[in-house]
Amino acid sequence: MGIGREVVFGDALPVAERYAAFLETAGVERGLMGPREVDRLWERHLINCAVVSEAIPADARVVDVGSGAGLPGIVLAIVRPDLRIILLEPLLRRTTFLDECVEMLDLRNVEVRRGRAEDMVGEITVDVATARAVAPLKRLVTWALPLLRPDGELLALKGERAAAELDEAEPVLKRLGARSTELLQVGRGMVDSPTTLVRVVAGRGEAVGPRQRAPRRAKGSRKRSS
Ligand SMILES: C[S@@+](CC[C@H](N)C(=O)[O-])C[C@H]1O[C@@H](n2cnc3c(N)ncnc32)[C@H](O)[C@@H]1O
Repeated sequence: MGIGREVVFGDALPVAERYAAFLETAGVERGLMGPREVDRLWERHLINCAVVSEAIPADARVVDVGSGAGLPGIVLAIVRPDLRIILLEPLLRRTTFLDECVEMLDLRNVEVRRGRAEDMVGEITVDVATARAVAPLKRLVTWALPLLRPDGELLALKGERAAAELDEAEPVLKRLGARSTELLQVGRGMVDSPTTLVRVVAGRGEAVGPRQRAPRRAKGSRKRSS
C-alpha cells in the first residue's frame, strides 16, 4: 500500500494540490490529459513522478524533455526547489499551459523553452535529463544525450518494456559513447508500483552526436542492476 501524498510531497503538498486541480480542469479541457486519468492522477502521475527525485543529485540543472503538461518536470520543481529545471516542449499549446502553471504555482526554479530536443544541442547543457512517454529509448537517447554535460545522466521513466528498450538501444548507446546504463526502481516502500527508470550516463566528450558525421567505435561500459 502506498504511504500517501502527504509523505511524498511534505510541505509542498498544497502546491501539488493546486497543480493537480489545474490538470484536472484546464489540462483535461485543453486535451493535455485524458479524462480517464483524473481518478488516478495522484498514484499514476504525480506520485510516480515525484519519486524520481530520489535519483537526482542536489542542485542539479535538469531538462525535462517533452514535458507535455509538466510531467515529470513540474512535479520535480515542486518537490525539489534546489533543482533548476528547463521544461522543453515543442508544442505551443503545451508551452502556454506550462507557462501558466509556472506563474500560478510561483515556481522560481523553472524555465519553459519551446523547441525540439534535437535542435537544442549547444543551447542547453545540463546535469540531468528526464523524459516520460516521449519516444522509444533508442530514439530518446539521440535527443537527450547531446544535452548532457560529460558524465551527466538521462533518467528515462519507462514501464514494463524498460529492459527490452535498453537492449534495443544498445547499438546507438555505443555510437553515442554512453559510459554506462542501469535499470533502477524509485519509490519503493512509498508507492504501490515503484517507477522504473533507465539511467544512462553520458560519455566524456568522445560521443558522436546525431548531427555529426562518421560514427566512432564505442568506449562505453554497460552495467545492469534491477
Ligand atoms: C506523450 S507526451 C508525454 C508528455 C509528458 N512527458 C507526460 O508524461 O505526460 C510526449 C511529449 O513529447 C513531446 N515531444 C515529441 N517530440 C519531441 C522532441 N523531439 N523534443 C522534445 N519534445 C518532444 C511532445 O510534444 C509531447 O508533449
